[in-house]
Amino acid sequence: MPTVVHTGLRILKKKRVLALPAFLGGVVALWPAVAFALPRPSWNPGPPWAPLDPKSGEMHMISNLFWIMLILSAIIFIGVVGALLYIITHNSARPGDDEPPPQLYGSRPIEITWTAIPFIILVVAFGITVKYIHDINTPPAGSHPLDIVAKGHQWYWEFEYPTLNITTDDEVHVPANVPLHFHVESADVVHSFWVPQLQRQIDANPGQDNAVFAEMDTPGIYGGMCYEYCGDAHAWMKFRMVVQPKGAFNAWAAHMRSSANKPKGGLALAGEKLFMASTCVECHTIDMPGSKASGTAAPNLTHLASRWTIGAGAARMNMADAMGWIHQPSHFKPGVLMPGYPLLSHHQIKSLAAYLMSLK
Ligand code: CUA
Repeated sequence: MPTVVHTGLRILKKKRVLALPAFLGGVVALWPAVAFALPRPSWNPGPPWAPLDPKSGEMHMISNLFWIMLILSAIIFIGVVGALLYIITHNSARPGDDEPPPQLYGSRPIEITWTAIPFIILVVAFGITVKYIHDINTPPAGSHPLDIVAKGHQWYWEFEYPTLNITTDDEVHVPANVPLHFHVESADVVHSFWVPQLQRQIDANPGQDNAVFAEMDTPGIYGGMCYEYCGDAHAWMKFRMVVQPKGAFNAWAAHMRSSANKPKGGLALAGEKLFMASTCVECHTIDMPGSKASGTAAPNLTHLASRWTIGAGAARMNMADAMGWIHQPSHFKPGVLMPGYPLLSHHQIKSLAAYLMSLK
């Protein structure tokens, strides 16, 4: 064979050997760029990586469990790989050896050791897991947690505080350092309720009251989502949990119980008239004396403009997006059940949006 062809074949063979490591290396190098560069709206950056930043007693336990398991697994991995390397290097024949190296056939001490070590590790891991599962699912003894019903709808979360007489959507406020009992339910299909930094994940099933207990220790705003595919707009079923000092929470609760703002005049007043005379009232509720809007098929709008976004994260809370939303909501949230109103005039849409934006 000519030398050139021979050398070429050798390089080809080498390249094939290098192809897999090169591919895997490329994936590892590119992964963070791919994972963290997904387009996310600027007003809705999504939650951080939960195990690194827990903000409630329950999440600290879950985070600890994650790290304990990770460290245990790392120790096992290093031990097994180390033993394997040692055995390969010490018990292999070398070029020039007359005899094969001594082989081991059965050893009671070794058999007992490598049965006992995994057994102990699994018992410890099992014990810690069961203890944490128990602690996470038990409210502190003698405490009277604040009840909050978190009800999944296609595609938004409704939050009801039975003892405070509040119903709202998309944004759940909670007092810091107060035990909470979330009653997770669904109005239609199976959803999953999750604020990664604050509480465990739990399914929302129709006709079932699933409990999550948590006590948030750090005031702040935390991203939440539906974590189970539930139809077209599943990705726009976000919410946020606002953890507040008790005083601020009580002020928020009092505001939520107050009736809707009554426009004094101008565009907003025209918008209110149009809203109350339209099909809007069949699905939405606006709480105020003599209100015609008492529908429960869609989010409660009583204090809409005090919330974080329109459409559970899909559009910003401003005039322009409110107008765009009324005109064609599926432009922001494909699959949304609200129909668009493309037949309304620009002025009508503007007055409706002005009214909605006045509902602070
Ligand atoms: Cu609700 Cu996914």
